[in-house]
Amino acid sequence: MIEEIKKVEQEIKEHLEKINSKEELEKFHNLFLVKKGKIQQLFDRMRELPREEKPAVGKILNELKKLAESRYREIHEKITAEIESTPKVDLTLPGRVNFVGHHHPIYQTMRQMVNIFTELGFKVAEGPEIEDEYHNFDALNFPPDHPARDMQDTFFIKSDKKLLLRTHTSPVQIRVMHSTTPPIRYIMPGRVYRNEAISARSLAEFHQIEGLYINRRVTFAELKGTMIEFSRRMFGENLRFRFRPSFFPFTEPSAELDITCFLCGGKGCRVCKYTGWLEIAGCGMVHPNVLKAENIDPEAYTGFAFGLGIERVAMLLTGIDDIRMFYINDLRVLQQF
Ligand code: PHE
Repeated sequence: MIEEIKKVEQEIKEHLEKINSKEELEKFHNLFLVKKGKIQQLFDRMRELPREEKPAVGKILNELKKLAESRYREIHEKITAEIESTPKVDLTLPGRVNFVGHHHPIYQTMRQMVNIFTELGFKVAEGPEIEDEYHNFDALNFPPDHPARDMQDTFFIKSDKKLLLRTHTSPVQIRVMHSTTPPIRYIMPGRVYRNEAISARSLAEFHQIEGLYINRRVTFAELKGTMIEFSRRMFGENLRFRFRPSFFPFTEPSAELDITCFLCGGKGCRVCKYTGWLEIAGCGMVHPNVLKAENIDPEAYTGFAFGLGIERVAMLLTGIDDIRMFYINDLRVLQQF
């Protein structure tokens, strides 16, 4: 029996020397220290011993058990401490490159436009995309039977036609006139909606920047100066300008602004449809009826307003010739800008 105990002791010592990992330690535990392990087996065999030998053998066995247990605990502590002190991250690994997004080209264009107008002294205001007929049409001097109110162009929200998706940013003019007093100098960027067939040139949802300046003795010359200065800063110095007479219910006189095509220098190309000119804004002097609707005295104050299409400007700047490209969210397109 003593012989056998010595053998197991030898085995235990050999095992202990080789333990390097938690798994190996676990194996050791399973082999010697569990209920059916080798040490317990020796204890069980003590039954076969003559009575007078039992105490001595029992002592040796108990010492062996204690030794195995305390070595087990020591190694367990050592390994646990090692695991805890090894860093969880491997600092030698190369860094992971995160995907970094960027602003959408439409938003980039809008920011550029807003920045220029801010430099020119305009403040920024915003209004709701869900509007009522008063702000979108009535206050802007649209006659009750104006074709633009038609179901064809306007997305009405309620069948009673009182609520709608704004068809332009001009209703924000009315809101700004309502909440401030002249002098008023604001730009109003935002999303607008029109019930239009979707094509390479038009979408049912797009963006505009509205401009409004109201003060004493504001003239058409100031409108021209503002539009020309904006265009030069946005598109380049060497531009020529053309103000064509036009019509909007809320401006009188009204004009559309063309600039020489900065892609071909006015010679004619695919983008300007071989005319040499690009149409970039609708504008005009604020109609007296609009001022009156918001209790601004048209005898004392005059003003100008303009509306620029952001997608249109973005198309000109990026060379994208299909407006739908901005919204199909194809990263191969968007990552280029
Ligand atoms: N609201 C007009 C449009 O959407 C543009 C415009 C704004 C024209 C301001 C004149 C003055 O077409």
